[in-house]
Amino acid sequence: MINVGVIGLGMMGQTHLDVYAKRSDVKVVAISDRDPARLSGKVRAAGNVEGQAQGAFDLSQAKAYEEGMDLIKDKSVDLVDICLATPLHVEYAIAALKRGKHVLVEKPLARTAKDAQKLAKVAAKSKGLAMCAMCMRFWPGWTWLKEAVEKQTYGPVRSASFKRLATMPPGGFYANGELSGGAILDLHLHDADFVQFVFGPPAAVFSRGYSKTSGAIDHVFTQYLYEADGAAPLITAEGTWAMAAPYEFRMQYAANFDRATAVFDLLSPTPLVLYRDGQKETIPLGTALGYELEIAYFLDCIARGEPPTTVTLDDAANAIKLIEAEAKSVETGKIVRLK
Ligand SMILES: NC(=O)c1ccc[n+]([C@@H]2O[C@H](COP(=O)([O-])OP(=O)(O)OC[C@H]3O[C@@H](n4cnc5c(N)ncnc54)[C@H](O)[C@@H]3O)[C@@H](O)[C@H]2O)c1
Repeated sequence: MINVGVIGLGMMGQTHLDVYAKRSDVKVVAISDRDPARLSGKVRAAGNVEGQAQGAFDLSQAKAYEEGMDLIKDKSVDLVDICLATPLHVEYAIAALKRGKHVLVEKPLARTAKDAQKLAKVAAKSKGLAMCAMCMRFWPGWTWLKEAVEKQTYGPVRSASFKRLATMPPGGFYANGELSGGAILDLHLHDADFVQFVFGPPAAVFSRGYSKTSGAIDHVFTQYLYEADGAAPLITAEGTWAMAAPYEFRMQYAANFDRATAVFDLLSPTPLVLYRDGQKETIPLGTALGYELEIAYFLDCIARGEPPTTVTLDDAANAIKLIEAEAKSVETGKIVRLK
C-alpha cells in the first residue's frame, strides 16, 4: 500500500484524488490546501475535460493540512502529489525529495527551464522517485499516434498538426502571466512536449503569438523545423486560452501518413478516426483518461523501484526549454535554433 498526500485541491488535485479513489493499492492519508473551503470540500474545483474532477474522494478520510510543507513533514506519507500553482512546484518538490518521499508534480515542472533543471538534478540524487505529470504522453489516442509514427504502420508520417484551444481557466494564478507563463507555457506545453516525444527535439522553431490578458503569450502558432534529408515531416501546433466564453475546450490533431490520415478530436463521441483505402474507421480508445494512466504508470514504477522512463524530469525540463525558444521566436519574429 502506498500512502499518498495531495497538496493543492484545485482542478488538478481533485482530478488526481479521483484517480486514487479508484485504486486499491493506494491510500490518500493527507490532503492540503490553503483555502479552507477547498480543504473541507465546501468548494470543489471543476475540470475542463469530461470525466475529470468528479469529487470521487471523500476528503474527510484524510488528515487535512492548510500548509503543504506540513503535509510534507508527515511521516505517514510515502508519495507527495504536488498540484500547486506552477511557481511553487520546485520548492515543494525539493522539500519532499529531501525528506525521502516519492514525488509526482503537475506540469509544467517549473516556471522556467533553469528551475526545472535544478529540480531534475536534486531528484537524480534522491532516494525517492520523481515524475512530472505530462498526461499527454499517456493519453489514449495520442499513444496510438506515437506508435503509428514509430512503427510506420501506415507508412512514413508526412505532417502532423496539433491544436489545444480554450478560454482562460478559472483560478487565481492563470491570468497572471508572470506566475502561469501564459497559454504558451501552461497549455501549449502539452503539444510541444508531445512533438518532442514523438518526433524528437526539433532543430529550430518559428512561432507567432499575441498576449490578450495575462501579459504573457496567450495564443501561439508554432512550426517545428526538422532537418532530415528533405523528407522531414511538417509539424505545427496552435495553443490558446484566448477564445471567447463559452467556447468549449478543444484538443485535436490531424496526422497524415503515406497511406492514411488520422484525426483526433476530444469533443467527438468517437475521438479517433482513421481514413484509409477509401474507408472511415473509428479506433476504439477505452474510457480511462491520461491522468489515470500516468498515475498508474508512476505507481507501478514505485512498486518496481525503477525510475520512470516514459517521461523523465529531463524531458519535462526540455519541454520548457522548447517553450522558451518559441517565446523568443514570437518576441524576435525570427526562427530560433535549439542548441
Ligand atoms: N495536466 C494537466 O492537464 C493540467 C491541467 C490544468 C492545470 N495543470 C497544472 O496543475 C497545477 C495546478 O493547477 P490548478 O488549476 O489545480 O490550480 P489551482 O490554483 O486551482 O489550485 C491550486 C491550489 O493550491 C492551493 N495552495 C496554494 N498555496 C498552497 C500551499 N502553500 N499549501 C497548500 N495549498 C496551497 C490553493 O489554495 C489552490 O486551491 C498548475 O501547475 C497547472 O498548470 C495541469
